[in-house]
Amino acid sequence: MTERRSIDSYNRAARLFHWSIAALMAGMYLTDWTRSALERNSPERSFVLATHMSLGVLVFILTLVRVVWRLRRGAPAPLPAPGLFRLGSKLGHVALYLATLFLPVTGALRALAGGKQIYFFGLPLVGPLDRDEAVLGATQVLHGDLLMNLLLALIGVHVLAALWHHFVLKDHTLRRMV
Ligand code: HEM
Repeated sequence: MTERRSIDSYNRAARLFHWSIAALMAGMYLTDWTRSALERNSPERSFVLATHMSLGVLVFILTLVRVVWRLRRGAPAPLPAPGLFRLGSKLGHVALYLATLFLPVTGALRALAGGKQIYFFGLPLVGPLDRDEAVLGATQVLHGDLLMNLLLALIGVHVLAALWHHFVLKDHTLRRMV
């Protein structure tokens, strides 16, 4: 704690947003992988899909609040680094923010276009609407394996960068987010 005070750290809300959204993203991937392993039209598969949707709604709401908070409160000054690395880190963070907003939206559109109801932890939120094959086809790409895997690769680079700062550069990058 004393050490956190002595470094320019992310504030408590920023850290809470970061780690709760990171945990929810892990849940999004786990529920997606579990769902695809389950039998089509089974109640288990519907339950896991409903959980996936609920987590997605939560990620979307929390990210919106987080972005507003971030724009109003800012973040600690970046640690000294070559310009290219600083630009890469900034672009990576913007891409992570955009992805955490884009995927829930395309997921919701995919569910609605497929004639499914969107639930938020048991509470019916929207739908069901009539099936729309054109929107369904588009959202199966925009909310599909390719983009999910690209995001996973981006998260992997983000985590490796944090570990590299901590263990190789031995600076405060990771410590100011925990
Ligand atoms: C074990 C997993 C993770 C670790 C160790 C980690 C670590 C970090 C660290 C150390 C920072 C601060 C970087 C800096 O000060 O320049 C950061 C920022 C950030 N992280 Fe992560 N992260 C993880 C997972 C995630 C996930 C899953 C997401 C979203 C999908 C995410 C999104 C972000 C964003 C958007 C920022 C920028 C915050 C800002 O300055 O506005 N992180 N992360």
